[in-house]
Amino acid sequence: MMRLLATAALLASTPSVFGQNFTFLSGLLQTLTSSGHTQLASVATKLNSTTAGQAVLTQLSSGSPFVLFAPTDNAFISVPSNVTSDVGALTDVISYHIASGNFTDISTTYPNVTLGNTLLNNPQVVQLEALGQPQALAWATREDGKVHVLNQLNDATVSNTTSFGNVTIHTIDRVLGFPGSLAQAVELDNTALALVAPLLHNISLSVPNAGGSTPLFDILNGGLHGFTFFAPNDAAITQTLAGRLVNLVTNQTAALAVFQNHLINGSTVYSPLLSNANRTSAAGETLRFVLNATGHYVSCGAVTARIVQPDVLLANGVVHVIDGVLLDTASDPEAASAAAASASASAASHTATAPGPIGFSATATGAGTTATGTGTGTRQSNAARKSKGGHGAKHVFKMAVALAGALVGMVVI
Ligand SMILES: *[C@@H]1O[C@H](CO)[C@@H](O)[C@H](O)[C@H]1NC(C)=O
Ligand SMILES: *[C@@H]1O[C@H](CO)[C@@H](O)[C@H](O)[C@H]1NC(C)=O
Ligand SMILES: *[C@@H]1O[C@H](CO)[C@@H](O)[C@H](O)[C@H]1NC(C)=O
Ligand SMILES: *[C@@H]1O[C@H](CO)[C@@H](O)[C@H](O)[C@H]1NC(C)=O
Ligand SMILES: *[C@@H]1O[C@H](CO)[C@@H](O)[C@H](O)[C@H]1NC(C)=O
Ligand SMILES: *[C@@H]1O[C@H](CO)[C@@H](O)[C@H](O)[C@H]1NC(C)=O
Ligand SMILES: *[C@@H]1O[C@H](CO)[C@@H](O)[C@H](O)[C@H]1NC(C)=O
Ligand SMILES: *[C@@H]1O[C@H](CO)[C@@H](O)[C@H](O)[C@H]1NC(C)=O
Ligand SMILES: *[C@@H]1O[C@H](CO)[C@@H](O)[C@H](O)[C@H]1NC(C)=O
Ligand SMILES: *[C@@H]1O[C@H](CO)[C@@H](O)[C@H](O)[C@H]1NC(C)=O
Ligand SMILES: *[C@@H]1O[C@H](CO)[C@@H](O)[C@H](O)[C@H]1NC(C)=O
Ligand SMILES: *[C@@H]1O[C@H](CO)[C@@H](O)[C@H](O)[C@H]1NC(C)=O
Repeated sequence: MMRLLATAALLASTPSVFGQNFTFLSGLLQTLTSSGHTQLASVATKLNSTTAGQAVLTQLSSGSPFVLFAPTDNAFISVPSNVTSDVGALTDVISYHIASGNFTDISTTYPNVTLGNTLLNNPQVVQLEALGQPQALAWATREDGKVHVLNQLNDATVSNTTSFGNVTIHTIDRVLGFPGSLAQAVELDNTALALVAPLLHNISLSVPNAGGSTPLFDILNGGLHGFTFFAPNDAAITQTLAGRLVNLVTNQTAALAVFQNHLINGSTVYSPLLSNANRTSAAGETLRFVLNATGHYVSCGAVTARIVQPDVLLANGVVHVIDGVLLDTASDPEAASAAAASASASAASHTATAPGPIGFSATATGAGTTATGTGTGTRQSNAARKSKGGHGAKHVFKMAVALAGALVGMVVI
């Protein structure tokens, strides 16, 4: 059933399958084999047995630049055999290891993050604002000087880099997990979201079109397709909110405004796209951003918080953990509607996402003209998909559970 769904969905969303360049693929597989990735190379043969898998090979051999995160043979040992034998599941997993674009001169030191669009766009596991929108992959150089893939249960680092044609091959010591639901992120991340999650569970508010009084957690967990949420960390909640939470909760209008001022509704905005620009919060207030030598900041009204953990990726959006509560009770419903309308209006014109690093400008480290913004910041909501409610997320969760074990990891970085 799962495979059937996955295949049907991909047939619906994959553009026509052009021929593979067999010469190229042979060379690539040879390179993988001779650099110690025999398992990954053998997976290619399995992928070639389905339309969805063939589409991945077709894209990879198109001559366009890609970054392939290539797990070692050792990493594949931990993949359960029932997953390696499920071509649908395997195709989703492998698709998440391939980022489109030329990242040659892009290098970021955490908390600055490099993000690319992967080939994973199966609507069963990716529910961002536009149908067929690819899931993002995030990586950065950390304090140890190594490049780490973020949002993984088991830390994945790049140990070697080679290339074939225009495909850059980064050897990693893990098989990557792709983003799941917020519930899953919380389950696997025992630090950053430890207090905000129960808080969101505890507060139920009536949000338009969310079906009566709904726990705020559920709205983010499945109700929205495409969102950006600024999640206060534990210290922020303990310090800032302790004395005022009761007041807020007794005043539903104020509580809703505060929640919505942490949210960009209908747009998944990754950290590189949050700098020196304004966004409209779901409450209709202006969110302002500054990226400078001491960090990345978000401001709402009179409150400024620093982004301490950017780009916690989810199947249906992105969370940035902040060190303060944006305790602004102001709201402007008209501005909020206008922003939501503009987000869904651009849906029609933005179906495909340009390949390449997400959101870098010429001012980013070494970024050249290949690295300009890709328009991902204006990805939009899809009203039709929103009406599906939590269905998709439930499926993601089931799927994620199915891939549990070494495969799907989230948010411990
Ligand atoms: C196939 O890939 C090879 C490189 O491996 C390249 O020389 C050739 O031009 C490609 N063929 C097509 C039709 O693009
Ligand atoms: C890195 O890859 C190159 C090319 O495949 C290979 O020659 C070299 O031995 C590899 N280094 C390590 C440490 O694996
Ligand atoms: C995939 O299968 C097709 C036939 O369906 C074949 O022409 C192609 O060479 C295969 N590709 C690889 C990489 O094995
Ligand atoms: C790599 O990209 C360049 C520039 O787009 C192109 O000319 C070349 O044919 C590509 N190489 C391969 C092997 O496809
Ligand atoms: C990738 O970018 C590097 C550096 O900017 C450039 O030298 C190279 O030609 C680019 N490759 C492709 C395929 O565009
Ligand atoms: C959530 O509600 C429970 C039960 O009422 C309470 O014990 C807990 O402190 C609350 N947590 C937060 C973060 O508000
Ligand atoms: C998000 O925007 C939609 C309109 O597109 C609206 O119906 C919904 O209530 C908003 N959700 C939140 C949490 O603000
Ligand atoms: C509830 O909060 C709103 C927004 O801050 C405010 O305008 C309103 O006066 C408050 N209502 C009460 C009863 O305190
Ligand atoms: C952001 O909004 C503020 C007012 O809230 C305005 O002063 C500023 O010019 C805006 N910045 C940008 C980049 O639009
Ligand atoms: C960076 O911006 C923040 C927020 O505006 C500010 O508090 C901080 O002083 C700035 N740091 C530098 C080095 O300019
Ligand atoms: C992140 O990028 C900003 C803007 O380019 C820069 O000022 C800052 O030093 C960078 N931070 C790190 C850790 O590299
Ligand atoms: C693989 O087997 C485990 C139990 O051994 C199960 O929990 C999981 O759902 C299975 N995964 C798939 C993709 O069938």
